Amino acid sequence: MNVHARPQTKLDVVPLTKYTGAEIRGLDLRTKPDDDTVKAIYQAWLDHLVIIFPDQKLSQEDLIRVTGYFGEIGELHRPPKYFPKGYSKILPGIMMISNIRENGEPIGALPDGEMMFHHDMIHSEVPSKGTLLYSVEIPSKGGNTLFASGYAAYDTLDPAVRNALEGKKAAHHYNYGSVKKGDNKGTEAFGECVHPVFRTHEDTKRKAVYVNRLMTVKILDMPEDESTDLLNKLFDHSEKKEFVYEHEWRLGDLLLWDNRCSTHARTDFPSTERRLMLRTTVKGTVRPY
Ligand SMILES: [Fe+2]
Repeated sequence: MNVHARPQTKLDVVPLTKYTGAEIRGLDLRTKPDDDTVKAIYQAWLDHLVIIFPDQKLSQEDLIRVTGYFGEIGELHRPPKYFPKGYSKILPGIMMISNIRENGEPIGALPDGEMMFHHDMIHSEVPSKGTLLYSVEIPSKGGNTLFASGYAAYDTLDPAVRNALEGKKAAHHYNYGSVKKGDNKGTEAFGECVHPVFRTHEDTKRKAVYVNRLMTVKILDMPEDESTDLLNKLFDHSEKKEFVYEHEWRLGDLLLWDNRCSTHARTDFPSTERRLMLRTTVKGTVRPY
């Protein structure tokens, strides 16, 4: 054996379902992994769409540093006047998601209950490539995050639906803070954008369904009833259980998901129990094509 050979990076990657999710065990992200390990984590992320790093003890600074392994950290897109109160207490680039209230006002964003499937920031020109979410306080039950593979949805799509939509674009609209389409819970601030219905992932070159129930409004150049019918078919197909990994949060879980090829949703949880997560995003580098 050549003693000068670089050690082989051997990550303990445990796939969780057929299409979506893998746990990477044995890493303490307070210490920076070597470059080969970071590359191997990135590859595992591309392969499994959602990566779970269990049992972390991260400071806000750690979370920002880890985010940087996957690209440039994203800024918050919500206009500052709509920042929840707790935002003054956290580092720039970190979003606090919480139902904790002080004087009746939520300290974080997206405080309550169930949330429909969506891609983070699909309503912007260059949507976030990835999102990291770290659990600080969790309720005794619920508040699970469901992840669905857009690749699996594309690969198994009814050919008639796929042919009708190949090459088409869809319009997306999002009122910040909304959790169900048309719930009027969002702020008056919003984002809107048009992207292809099927997106090619720039790293893997694979195609994925790129519309979602929360934010996609319509397919362009198509009568409205046909657009609505096809979108509903796409949503129902994309959210099938066999494509979904449901994550039950434990304290100290850090998750990283790929917004280019997966959607996520949240299940309901008791409003009487505290939930606090820290979120960062990795900036996208290309306009979806
Ligand atoms: Fe989200």
